[in-house]
Amino acid sequence: MPAPNIDTIVSLAKRRGFVFPSSEVYGGLGSAWDYGPLGVELCNNVKQAWWRWLVYERDDIEGIDSSIILNRLVWKYSGHEATFNDWLVDCRKCKGRFRADKIVDNQCPACGASDWTDARPFNTMLQTKLGAVADDDPTALAYLRPETAQGIFINFQNVQTTMRRKLPFGIAQVGKSFRNEVTPGNFILRTREFEQMEMEYFVSPTAEHSKLVDYWIEQYLEWFGSLGISRDHLDLYEVPEAELAHYSKRTVDIMYKYFPEREKPWEELMGIAWRTDFDLSTHSKNKLDEEGKRINPDSTEDLSYFDESTKQRFYPHVIEPAAGVNRTVLAVLMDAYSEKTNDKGETRVILKLSPQLAPIKAAILPLAKNKPEIVGMAKAIKRSLQPVLRAVYDDTGGIGKLYARQDEIGTPFCITVDHQSLEDEAVTVRDRDTWEQERIKVTDLAEHLQKRLKPYPVATPDSV
Ligand code: GAP
Repeated sequence: MPAPNIDTIVSLAKRRGFVFPSSEVYGGLGSAWDYGPLGVELCNNVKQAWWRWLVYERDDIEGIDSSIILNRLVWKYSGHEATFNDWLVDCRKCKGRFRADKIVDNQCPACGASDWTDARPFNTMLQTKLGAVADDDPTALAYLRPETAQGIFINFQNVQTTMRRKLPFGIAQVGKSFRNEVTPGNFILRTREFEQMEMEYFVSPTAEHSKLVDYWIEQYLEWFGSLGISRDHLDLYEVPEAELAHYSKRTVDIMYKYFPEREKPWEELMGIAWRTDFDLSTHSKNKLDEEGKRINPDSTEDLSYFDESTKQRFYPHVIEPAAGVNRTVLAVLMDAYSEKTNDKGETRVILKLSPQLAPIKAAILPLAKNKPEIVGMAKAIKRSLQPVLRAVYDDTGGIGKLYARQDEIGTPFCITVDHQSLEDEAVTVRDRDTWEQERIKVTDLAEHLQKRLKPYPVATPDSV
């Protein structure tokens, strides 16, 4: 049973230290969120799972970490300065401002009127200024990146030559992106500051690009499955030609059922785009237009690729799976949410997170906190487990309450140290999902837990 709606997750996230509304001491900041002690662990675990899967387990992908602020010319030639717009309309009655494409039945969502200004473009790149310059100095203008992808394209040749890569190969990057969204909202689904996990997969111009889009869709569906997201809560959306970004010949969005309670339950979790050779060409000094003129007179490099086997030089095409960290985290939380009734008829929340994503893997709980030997043994077990997995010690309540708290934050195992443990050097390991308990020798504990915490296997194809 997944969460019935996003609000259930908002309240759990705040109550249990996953996500807090940002800047609350000053009344908050619209649609900005801070990740708490458990939220930061969950985000890190998602990013690590992604990195492990693409960069470590495959043999055809490298990782990089480029700057957030790039030369402004990157955004000129990528097309973002000219086209990264939302179309805005103002309601003449209530003065509300909205995205034109989000207006339903021509009615103002705030007051119901239908009296609109003409739509006008609003560039959603967030601006900043570099250096100690005058406010109106146009040369100081810079942008916070709206996608991590461009940092990959401008490093294509650096990576390809230093790592001696041949096509096909990919470059992965995870990091913050920024968009001055006109209508942010729905918790961490749409915010102005967010994180992306993007991978640019470089292939020959003669590769079967559409098939490669399908291939990456299958790979990601499987990967989301390994994170515990049910296939029933994922759907595909083939973006119609008229809605494609200027660089794309084909884009398919993987949608998640973020709004199960609504008539339109689906929203984009990630997109997989065939970006053609647009990006590498546009940043290259030698690329000519139809009239024989350089399309980029500012570039000092050429990002073409020489294929040794065919002795041909060309600009590689790109297949781009682009996913949001925050949207993945929200989908993971919604799918992990479940409720269970205990023998006393009380309903408990259990967050059935995949073990690899759980912020805490094991909680060590002493059955009697006034017994120094039991406390000492429990703390020693915590210390001995910590090098291999994230463990915490907790004695701040009765055992029932401690179990319930760990269930609610998704901790797969509770380890209880009791009077018997002092004699038999064994502890009780309680399973989060089944509430079953088994007795394990302390000397075998780390190995026992590690075995049960292993991530679900994801198939890694030999080649594409
Ligand atoms: N490089 C391609 C690109 O950026 P996108 O569809 O605009 O494509 C990719 O973004 C993913 O980034 C989205 O599918 C979503 O998961 C995430 N994303 C985009 N805008 C977001 C926002 N304002 N808040 C949270 N996540 C966002």
